[in-house]
Amino acid sequence: MDASSMMASPKQEIKLADYQPPAFFIDNITLTFKIYGDYVDVHAKSFIKRNGNNTNALALDGSPYMELLNLSIDGEAVDKALYTLGGANLTINDVPDEFIIDITTRLKPAENSRLEGLYASGGNLCTQCEAEGFRHITYYIDRPDVLAVYSVRIEADKDEYPVLLSNGDNTENGILDNNRHYACWNDPYPKPSYLFALVAGKLSAYSDRYVTKSGREVALNIYVREPDLDKCDYAMQSLKRSMKWDEDEYGLEYDLGTYNIVAVSDFNMGAMENKGLNVFNTKYVLANQQTATDTDFDNVEGVIGHEYFHNWTGNRVTCRDWFQLSLKEGLTVFRDQEFSSDMTSRAVKRIADVRVLRMIQFPEDAGPLAHPIRPESYVEINNFYTATVYNKGAEVIRMIQALLGKKAFNTAVRQYLTEFDGQAATCADFVDVMERVGQKDLTQFRRWYSQAGTPSIDVSRKRDGNDVILKVSQSCMATPGQSSKAPFHIPFMVGWIDKAGEAIFPDVSEKVNWTENGCLLDVTAQEQEFKFYNVPEDCVPSLHRGFSAPVTLTSDISDEEKAFLVSHDSDAYARWQAIQELASSYILNIVEGEMSIVDEQYQLIASAFSTILQQENIDLSFMAELLTLPTEVYLGQLQDTLQPDAIYDARESLLGKLANDNEQSINNLFAMFKSQTAGQTQSAKGARRLCSVLLSYMIRGKSEARDSAKEEILSQFYKASTMTEQLSALMLISDSDYVEREDVLKHFYEQWQTDDLVIDKWFAVQAQSKRLDTLDTVKHLMCHEAFSYQNPNRIRSLVSSFTMMNQVRFHSADGAGYSMLSNVIKKLDKINPQTAARMVAPLCRWQRLDSIRQTLMIDSLKELLNVENLSDDVRELVQKSLQ
Ligand code: TRP
Ligand code: ZN
Repeated sequence: MDASSMMASPKQEIKLADYQPPAFFIDNITLTFKIYGDYVDVHAKSFIKRNGNNTNALALDGSPYMELLNLSIDGEAVDKALYTLGGANLTINDVPDEFIIDITTRLKPAENSRLEGLYASGGNLCTQCEAEGFRHITYYIDRPDVLAVYSVRIEADKDEYPVLLSNGDNTENGILDNNRHYACWNDPYPKPSYLFALVAGKLSAYSDRYVTKSGREVALNIYVREPDLDKCDYAMQSLKRSMKWDEDEYGLEYDLGTYNIVAVSDFNMGAMENKGLNVFNTKYVLANQQTATDTDFDNVEGVIGHEYFHNWTGNRVTCRDWFQLSLKEGLTVFRDQEFSSDMTSRAVKRIADVRVLRMIQFPEDAGPLAHPIRPESYVEINNFYTATVYNKGAEVIRMIQALLGKKAFNTAVRQYLTEFDGQAATCADFVDVMERVGQKDLTQFRRWYSQAGTPSIDVSRKRDGNDVILKVSQSCMATPGQSSKAPFHIPFMVGWIDKAGEAIFPDVSEKVNWTENGCLLDVTAQEQEFKFYNVPEDCVPSLHRGFSAPVTLTSDISDEEKAFLVSHDSDAYARWQAIQELASSYILNIVEGEMSIVDEQYQLIASAFSTILQQENIDLSFMAELLTLPTEVYLGQLQDTLQPDAIYDARESLLGKLANDNEQSINNLFAMFKSQTAGQTQSAKGARRLCSVLLSYMIRGKSEARDSAKEEILSQFYKASTMTEQLSALMLISDSDYVEREDVLKHFYEQWQTDDLVIDKWFAVQAQSKRLDTLDTVKHLMCHEAFSYQNPNRIRSLVSSFTMMNQVRFHSADGAGYSMLSNVIKKLDKINPQTAARMVAPLCRWQRLDSIRQTLMIDSLKELLNVENLSDDVRELVQKSLQ
């Protein structure tokens, strides 16, 4: 069957405003999967009930990738004349108000390279049903407001598929003829089809147990390939910590007897929260110190938490329709961020989250694909699993928490979960509960759900006798379809510091509560004034503390005051932001040739820098953050027209100056902490992070210092006992022109060639190298035996590392980077359109480039539109960015 030729015509745009409740409900479904050598037969028996007294035909979603073998209603085969079978749907006329439908379909999972529906990964079978994958398994009402109770029976060969899993609890197992066996699973909680999951294969379980706070015992299993059993412990401990955290923080307990996690190598995203049977990308499960970096460990903890927290925010209460995606994703990202903060360092986690938001979400919000956290229309829903829906969505939840206060917020979340338990809800339902329980007027706040774009805030000061007036104004850029915006309700956290560096807490003209962290101003108007009484001269305001809202900020805070904040602010985010701003301003001034102020700015940065280097009793990871200059991508966003080469050069020159001027203290610190990098404690992790940042300065020092840094790096590479250290050395070497470079890369490949996740790093490190020949290297690596278009992790580690993290080489002036990317997308679109579409973004922001690059980029986009049978996924993004 050639599916692409049967493909339905391009999808129509779907609009939130057109939402209609389903014409039929399905209360109950029994599924039987019979797994054979090269096909799987799926029998689905569903109990269907008409919703009210509509007279609609029964419209079931389907797919060209499956074959319909049998269709009967109430035990009788349906006459061919009574139904129409299209590429993507099955419509049956004249159905009764209540009936049982039996459908048998045949699937070919081994041929499924799209990785949605039922597919094969490494010889095992697994499913991915969010958002609309279940329709590739059977004909069904595949939308999240149809909730059914699922019973599943799986039959397969005992040796090929010893492990048979589905959602809920295992109710029965047995032996069949012909070396076959079966397993039955039952999930008592009604769920939408996107939460269905099935896994069958040769897997080993890493098992543990958890006793909930009310004393129920839960069996925990992480299923992996047998050789990976030694990489499961961190994920298991993270799972138990998540379960405990949700009990402590929100009083939420797990609700089944079993919690299963399966790790698969071929996966379109990070992980999937299927009820009682999470399916994970191996990248977010497998970790030990030899193969995973400290960042990998943090990601494992975060994603394990994320999927676990979905059990309540997503599964017990789900989404009415896909426009409400942020209802579960924004809230769940917020929950996983808080969990990680509580497990590690709040300051460092907040900075990491702000960094992701700025690097990925802000550009999205400023470009042709901008959309509100609750989009109003889509062609392909998979294109809306975005940083806006997830990360800005989490910021919106964080603002609600700030406005209500943490205690009231937690109470309101519990109330929301109680009120909507077992139902499909909307973002509006959620905000209504927050407003009612939190007793805070959120009328204006709701605009965050409907208006796209990143608001900007400007703050200026005016002295009025003993008082200071902060004048706050806000505006928001136009976004597609929204040319002008109404003002947002922005919670804006502010503090004051006197000239001795001590916090002061002046009275304010508005009703506000001071806490240790500052006072929260309700910014609601386009222009607004806040008067602070009796503020001594030389006091400095600390603005936007904790990044209290997803906005950009400009102000009249001087460079001297910023340098003061770097050393004296008690708010970690604000300290970090102050040094970032100083460094960014300096680098951009160099780029712009504004030489008159740069010397003075450099003095301020250098002295702030040396204060940081000398600070004692500081979290080492936080110190590393303070010493890390803004990335090229971030700096590029501050320019109206991106100048990738000039930014790279200016940033390098600042790195070099700082390295030279602080050589002694950098070397001393390195020597001091190098000996404290062993182990898995927070402090060892911090020491590793700090040493890696220090090394990146040391290689940029004077020539003698450079030679000894090189020795250090090479020995670190060969002797490292952790992947964190080996990889940080490898990154510096990969960036260098050391004669040893080739040998080192070869050594690493040979050392790790049987470990896919480590080989992904080997590809990524080469793609991120700033060497002039990197684009050629990337093209070359696409022909490497270990490269594959079938595996999303591999493609992303080679191609996306280059297109998203190597600004200066991707934007090569001849457009070679752009055409490489568009060629990859073309090829990948035939194999895996979802993942292909996730790679388009770097081509969409051509407006920000000079006219030569614009033309080249637009050409690459247009070339995609010429591809025959281009997927809806890629086409939607390309068309929107050319509009
Ligand atoms: N809901 C998943 C999460 O946030 C992500 C997800 C959505 C996904 N669609 C997917 C994962 C497709 C894999 C494939 O955790
Ligand atoms: Zn999620």
